[in-house]
Amino acid sequence: MDHEQRVTLLNKMTLREKVGQLVQLATPFFKGASDQGEITGPMENMNLSYEDIEDTGSVLGASGAKETIHIQKQHMKDNRLGIPLLFMSDIIHGYKTIFPVPLGISCSWDQNLAEESARIAAKEASVSGVHVTFAPMVDLSREPRWGRVMESTGEDSLLNSDFARSFVRGFQGDLSNNSYNVASCVKHFAAYGAPEAGRDYNTVDMSEWMLREYYLPAYKAALDEGCEMVMTAFNILNGIPATGNKKLMRDLLRGEWNFDGVLISDWGAVKELIPHGVAEDAKQAAQKALTAGVDIEMMTSCYVNYVEELIHEGKLNEETLNEAVSRILALKDKLGLFDNPYRFANEKEEEEIVLAPEHRNAARKLATKSIVLLKNEQTLPLKKGENLSLIGPFSTSTDILGPWSWKGASEDTVTFENGLKAALSSEELPVAKGCNIEDGSEEQFSEAITTAEHSDVVILALGEESDMSGEAGCRVDIRLPEVQLELLKEIKALGKKVVTVLFNGRPLDLREVVENSDAVLEAWYPGTEGGNALADILVANVNPSAKLTMSFPYSVGQVPVYYNHFNTGRPKEAPDAQERFASQYLDAPNEPLFPFGFGLSYSNYHYGEVSLSSTQLNATGQIKASIDVTNTGEMAGDEIVQLYIRDLAGEVVRPVKELKGYEKIHLEPKETKTVTFTITEEQLRYYHSDLEWSSDEGNFEVYIGSNSKVNVGKRFELIK
Ligand code: IFM
Repeated sequence: MDHEQRVTLLNKMTLREKVGQLVQLATPFFKGASDQGEITGPMENMNLSYEDIEDTGSVLGASGAKETIHIQKQHMKDNRLGIPLLFMSDIIHGYKTIFPVPLGISCSWDQNLAEESARIAAKEASVSGVHVTFAPMVDLSREPRWGRVMESTGEDSLLNSDFARSFVRGFQGDLSNNSYNVASCVKHFAAYGAPEAGRDYNTVDMSEWMLREYYLPAYKAALDEGCEMVMTAFNILNGIPATGNKKLMRDLLRGEWNFDGVLISDWGAVKELIPHGVAEDAKQAAQKALTAGVDIEMMTSCYVNYVEELIHEGKLNEETLNEAVSRILALKDKLGLFDNPYRFANEKEEEEIVLAPEHRNAARKLATKSIVLLKNEQTLPLKKGENLSLIGPFSTSTDILGPWSWKGASEDTVTFENGLKAALSSEELPVAKGCNIEDGSEEQFSEAITTAEHSDVVILALGEESDMSGEAGCRVDIRLPEVQLELLKEIKALGKKVVTVLFNGRPLDLREVVENSDAVLEAWYPGTEGGNALADILVANVNPSAKLTMSFPYSVGQVPVYYNHFNTGRPKEAPDAQERFASQYLDAPNEPLFPFGFGLSYSNYHYGEVSLSSTQLNATGQIKASIDVTNTGEMAGDEIVQLYIRDLAGEVVRPVKELKGYEKIHLEPKETKTVTFTITEEQLRYYHSDLEWSSDEGNFEVYIGSNSKVNVGKRFELIK
């Protein structure tokens, strides 16, 4: 179908049919749906007639080739003009083969593996009938209290942008060819990751300068990569809900960035303009959202009930409606749905492709690259002959897939116990639960103590159940639940070596865990192959290499705590400096417990001195910054080498350091490699007070190291 044919189709549509294209409903609304699919928000009575549903443009959360083909067939019979439905779902970190949660994936700093995970997810989802995924979520976040941080790729805008591009490439590939892909919908536009006090859906208020410098780049990166759709955010931004925000959608997204794809609201967000207090009723909510630029309304009925009326009353322009419909038809066309409404949905292929062994292998590999070693006092890897026991609520749990893994099944999940037993080739691993996630009994404790008493090394599997993060999963106490800390302390008191393995979706306050453990592994929610991946790390089939992409606070009272903060006029000169009138806490350090970029290995890496090819850079030139990195350990491993730059004096204040590059290198024992980064003037640009994106002449400091704490640098001068 070309543009002309789409215009002809549009001309044949009644107003009612046009509005129908702007409506997205969850699966249970559709004739012939056999299950409720994915339900990710409040279901309300929407007062819809059969005719409304026949005109509807898209379905949320249906999947499975049989189900989607069935719904589509029925719809093609009922829809007067034979306009196919679009099937959209949250395929966030895998379809049925579940990869680690995105925050975990980001700790791999590995763009190729991230892209591969999205490609596999797209393959499995597309044969199961899904056309669009509501991913990637690229909301930058400095908020561990916020439950959705598990779905983000952390606190840094360079990394977020790189992951945004990788995920979009992986999901979409080349949409026009036949390679099992889904269209991507980047979300949540904009700044959803910065809610006040870390509470989901809460107020976001930030300067445009801050927004452009840190929060917007990743959305833009996804769109530059060809991402087809954008989802609005639930929050207000500077007083105006994102879903009714003309400045964000019409001026920035469409005007400045030339985005001509489809814009969808989040679930119910159009109607939420009423409780936000910017619309009196559903009719005004429809008017505001469509005028501001939302094409599809997800799961409320403001458009279907009022857009026609608003047009008849002259309060909405039919051209606005036509534009929205055209964009939706164009996406359906691009996905080939007018030629084949079933696209890749195919029951037979679904059986072969979903959970294919190579997909599981990829999930296992990525999980091993996402698990962060936070502490290790000569405890890991496990040694042959040690008596081990596995204790804790996550020992045998299948709740290791994490939020947004709706198609992932517990029966396909390799538990920690099963993975470890397979790696140790032994059924002889004593296991005890010890306690539940938030409570425990004396019997559970005493069984755990007896089990621990007979071992040299206790592996303690602790964490938050997956409902404790994800959407609306916010917490003010970001320590492990009290009962688990008790269990840890009682076991430590036995004098055994304790390896704590953590399953969770957010940075935690780990002080007590670190004090009472000899080794600590942050496993996140590692996915379908989680148990195997953990075993790979524990027995050193794989040397840990992951590095944190969010700072882990020393205490929740420090939040937000992030590496690229400003210096203040009274910086604390050294962590132990004794000075009164400095920017500091009296009862806690300024620094997080574990900084951004931090992660240990079973090897040690020695960093030489940074050398610069020149101490002066001009606008068209480049400087090469090099460093020698040596593996001084006994085991081959990967090291993520990080480049940070500090602009010493800007027109506006500049962060104490900013990530400007990174490279993962492989080093055999005793091997040295020289890592070289190229620095150009473009990397030194930032938003000035007048929002101009440019660099300033002057001095810059370059740091290269193994995490963001690196502080011995070399200086160069930018001369323009
Ligand atoms: O895609 C999600 C979004 O991220 C949160 N609310 C529900 C949507 C659809 O499931």
